[in-house]
Amino acid sequence: MSGKLYLYPGSIRIWHLLNAVLIIGLIITGVSLQYAAKDPILLPFRVSITWHNIFGVLLSFNYALYLIAGFVTGNFRFYIIRQPRFWHRLFRQARYYAFGVFRGEEHPFHVSETEKFNPLQKISYWFVMFIFMPIVIVTGWGLLYPDLVAHVIFGVSGLHVTDIVHIIAGFILSIFLVVHIYLCTVGMKWGDAIKTISTGYHHPLNDD
Ligand code: HEM
Repeated sequence: MSGKLYLYPGSIRIWHLLNAVLIIGLIITGVSLQYAAKDPILLPFRVSITWHNIFGVLLSFNYALYLIAGFVTGNFRFYIIRQPRFWHRLFRQARYYAFGVFRGEEHPFHVSETEKFNPLQKISYWFVMFIFMPIVIVTGWGLLYPDLVAHVIFGVSGLHVTDIVHIIAGFILSIFLVVHIYLCTVGMKWGDAIKTISTGYHHPLNDD
């Protein structure tokens, strides 16, 4: 295969950069809030609250940019789960990450102008972008404006439920971030992945 493929439009690249910075800021301030003490381990409580709120509001607007850009640029076409044999291909991809890559096997997926995500990327981006990000954003706004939250949910404090759901979703996003960064380096050079998400061009030599 020859020639570079332009797969990441400018708006998606800007969203992704801001998103990464904001999520990292939210993790640092969120962990600091979780372990708030008189002598703070990470950041003073007030500083964490203020910056967590600012980053959270910015993340919400940035998420709106992602949704708009996804429709306007047609980027969401890459998220469509196509049969046949999606689950089979997903399993093959997972097997490659678990064993194949260490045995020097050929990458089971080839990026093309119609498919930029392998099945595992597709399903994880789906969960992250359309389930956990909305959950963390909606519950975050609920915690910012507690009057918006139902007083009682399933017989317990609505705010408490909102808080627990927010923390679990945030934790899952933190795990995703670590795995995502790791998997972006598997089967290709680390610099190539960064080049792809900063220039928009997928270099065919990466894995094709
Ligand atoms: C320092 C942090 C990060 C780095 C280095 C990084 C790296 C990358 C790279 C190299 C790509 C292009 C290859 C691919 O599609 O897998 C990518 C795409 C993507 N990343 Fe990240 N990422 C980071 C943070 C995040 C975070 C925090 C999220 C979401 C919570 C995220 C979600 C995504 C999504 C959804 C795509 C596909 C975008 C699209 O084309 O529609 N990334 N990332």
